Amino acid sequence: MSHTIEKIHTPKLIGVEAAKKLDVKELTDLFHAHMNPGQYHFLKLLGFHKVLIDRAEGMYYIERTGRRILDFFGGFGALALGHNHPRILAARQHFQDESRHEIALTFISQYACALSSNLAAIAPGDLDMVLLGSTGSEAVEAALKLAEQFHGPERSTVVYATQAFHGKTRGALSVTDSEFYQSTFKLLENNIRVPFGDLDALEQTFTQDHSIGALILETIQGGAGIVTAPVEYWQGVRQLCDRYDVLWIADEVQCGMGRTGRFFAFEHAGVIPDIVTLAKSLGGGKSAMAAMIARRPVYMQAYGTPKTALIHGPSTFSGIGEACVTAIETLNTLYDENCIDNAAIQGSYLIQRLQLLAEKYPKLIKEVRGQGLMVGLEFHDFSKTMPYGIENMISLLDEKLKGSLCGFIGSLLLKDYDILVAFTEYNRNVIRLEPPLIVTREQIDTFVDALDDLLSRGIIRIVTHYIKVVLNGIR
Ligand SMILES: Cc1ncc(COP(=O)(O)O)c(C=O)c1O
Repeated sequence: MSHTIEKIHTPKLIGVEAAKKLDVKELTDLFHAHMNPGQYHFLKLLGFHKVLIDRAEGMYYIERTGRRILDFFGGFGALALGHNHPRILAARQHFQDESRHEIALTFISQYACALSSNLAAIAPGDLDMVLLGSTGSEAVEAALKLAEQFHGPERSTVVYATQAFHGKTRGALSVTDSEFYQSTFKLLENNIRVPFGDLDALEQTFTQDHSIGALILETIQGGAGIVTAPVEYWQGVRQLCDRYDVLWIADEVQCGMGRTGRFFAFEHAGVIPDIVTLAKSLGGGKSAMAAMIARRPVYMQAYGTPKTALIHGPSTFSGIGEACVTAIETLNTLYDENCIDNAAIQGSYLIQRLQLLAEKYPKLIKEVRGQGLMVGLEFHDFSKTMPYGIENMISLLDEKLKGSLCGFIGSLLLKDYDILVAFTEYNRNVIRLEPPLIVTREQIDTFVDALDDLLSRGIIRIVTHYIKVVLNGIR
């Protein structure tokens, strides 16, 4: 019997060099054909669809045309050290030049161990045990599973907060307060939602339901539009969790890594949670890295024996070499270059300048809030007061834009001032400012001066300028 081996057909593939050279038209065609055609609608509304980024360095994205865009968005907190920090690039280059190994599933990895040890050294108290992953959602899943494993199935109910965002995987989504993201998915049912920042409601919930084993809270709510709670709230959370034997999971995926002026935002309250999640900036802006850090007794009870060790053991890319080395260098750089102090100093300068702007434009700006370089700028809701003709024109473009200044402001800041800011999932009136922690006072001045200039146009001109931009941009 003879076997003939058919030659495998080689598909038409795009090479790396060809990918770098794609133009705007080719790029949007590929995005439509293979990625997210629905999302293109929003990119177009914001005027982002024609921006072709070639490079990035420090505080800037750089377009193919050479135009430099000042980044006050910062990847929703994923760019503590900015773009392509030289120390991060060098560490990664050395790692590659030395042909170091990546997968850490069989032999113990010196890089994963060093990173875990560094995180334990940074985290207060006995937050000593680390499980590495790649995304914030993965860290949240790990935290929820650890809490359930610790208490057992009878105490598997999780309390979460109004307006919480913890990720889009099924467990994390179950404790995310968004009908939109939750859609019609079948999610975990044993969850209870409490108002964020309300200790009485929390205590009442704890007393009423003895199946509660964990409480998950973002220390500063990012997706909600930068919502903070006072120090007394966090102290009360710690006390209540101790009293009712509930594990407190602090989700610091967005607010951690020095952004608020302390490495962890909960440190401002002088309290220590039982489990912490980190991701985003831990990857140094160059890699996907996440960590769940647990108090040693909690971890040991759940996974501490050979029998239980692998229940939630590493996934394929946990502790992957180059990402670990990147994270190790990121942590060292954060301290060596005083980035956390800079976040505190520049953050309070940014908030102070924005508050002056709020006094200057009381009819436009409703509130400035936040801590360090995690700042929310809330505009008044114009859905009721927008002149009728203009409101109609806007609704023709998109219902979501009606009454929300953020889309117009973000779009014009980019077009006229070369500045990028972020929008907010749950509150369309809030612009989120999460620039890299390397931001300078001069760059803050550039941003606030640009915003001042834009707001001085007044609402009618802002909206009509925006409409012109969008109409010009429609292909
Ligand atoms: C507080 C918080 N938790 C979890 C996540 C999920 O992280 P990821 O998108 O890396 O899965 C995010 C993402 O924005 C977040 O802000």
